[in-house]
Amino acid sequence: MGRPLPDSLVPGQPLTALAPMQDVTDLAFMRVISRYGAPDYFFTEFFRVHGQSRPEKHILRSIDENDTGRPVFAQLIGEDLGHLARTAEELLRHRVAGIDLNLGCPAPKVYKKNVGGGLLRDPAKIGEILALLRSVVPGLFTVKMRIGFDDTNSFERVLDLINEHRVDLLSVHGRTVKEMYRSEVHYDFIARAVAHVRCPVLANGNVLSSSRAAGVLAETRAAGVMIGRHAIRNPWIFRQCREQFAGRTVTPVTLAEVRSYIDCLYAETRTAEIPERAHVNKMKKYLNFVGQSVDASGAFLHDMRRAETEQDLFKICDRHLLTEPGREFSAEPYPGVIARPNCETPSATADGCSLETVTA
Ligand SMILES: Cc1cc2nc3c(=O)[nH]c(=O)nc-3n(C[C@H](O)[C@H](O)[C@H](O)COP(=O)(O)O)c2cc1C
Repeated sequence: MGRPLPDSLVPGQPLTALAPMQDVTDLAFMRVISRYGAPDYFFTEFFRVHGQSRPEKHILRSIDENDTGRPVFAQLIGEDLGHLARTAEELLRHRVAGIDLNLGCPAPKVYKKNVGGGLLRDPAKIGEILALLRSVVPGLFTVKMRIGFDDTNSFERVLDLINEHRVDLLSVHGRTVKEMYRSEVHYDFIARAVAHVRCPVLANGNVLSSSRAAGVLAETRAAGVMIGRHAIRNPWIFRQCREQFAGRTVTPVTLAEVRSYIDCLYAETRTAEIPERAHVNKMKKYLNFVGQSVDASGAFLHDMRRAETEQDLFKICDRHLLTEPGREFSAEPYPGVIARPNCETPSATADGCSLETVTA
């Protein structure tokens, strides 16, 4: 019997978690999400671990100043045993629900250093890291992994290590590292993980809506879902999942509500140090996802991308979202309306996992 996980919002329902996303899942974004329906669990962006690293202050804020009432797991990315131990011990002095290890980041800059998804090429090293972290983390120790690097040959071996080192919760993004973010998700592999490991599994990848969440859970038998990009697009998704899991009607969202989400996001993420233009550009990165559900033609995305000032941006939002304020915001992205730039282009994959580079 493993260690108990933190209580979920609705006991007995499948779990929900906001996926860790660099440059997105900071304190401001966790607060915004909580306003529309918090997930059961949060995960921080990854703390980079190396010889000179100290836990990044802005990521620590998402733990120390978190007033959402929901548990936060701190994610680490790295491969040096001593520095991983030091960082985990340091983070355990903060109010973390547990320590999570990243075995999935697909950015070449990251995997070439043999960290994140790069580690999936070296199960022996994964074994050493899991043994070490298990020995320094007395409480919850969790892992987020992809199903392989460029093939799935080591998948079962890594799952054996998850059992051997008594990992408490496993999140599986059902793609290989080389599949990045846009291929089909291999839910059959998530189902294999569920059957193989002793701890609960969160299914991750393209959980587009509450009804998809129910479908993915039925297909994989996972303990819950972890949702990333589709929570940026639709921050009501966790509340909708709870309605779906309870067998209630899922409350649809109107364009007027989306307009007020944009105001909330703008206000929460604005800081005095960021000039207006830069903040407008940052907003466009979130709106890239939101726009996928506004209209089937992509007209909102087209216009939004041309905004240069706060006033422009809000005028465009008003025009597209308040002309028919009662119209429904689509629960899933309209087919063919994609966020840009997407993460599959060479320039986009040159850097780390960030909203700058990974929007698909
Ligand atoms: C902008 C962005 C940043 C990400 N940063 C991280 C990260 O810091 N740690 C991590 O484990 N995964 C990271 N991911 C991967 C997500 O957690 C998730 O596994 C992936 O987006 C698939 O889930 P989704 O289809 O629900 O978005 C990132 C993804 C995106 C789009």
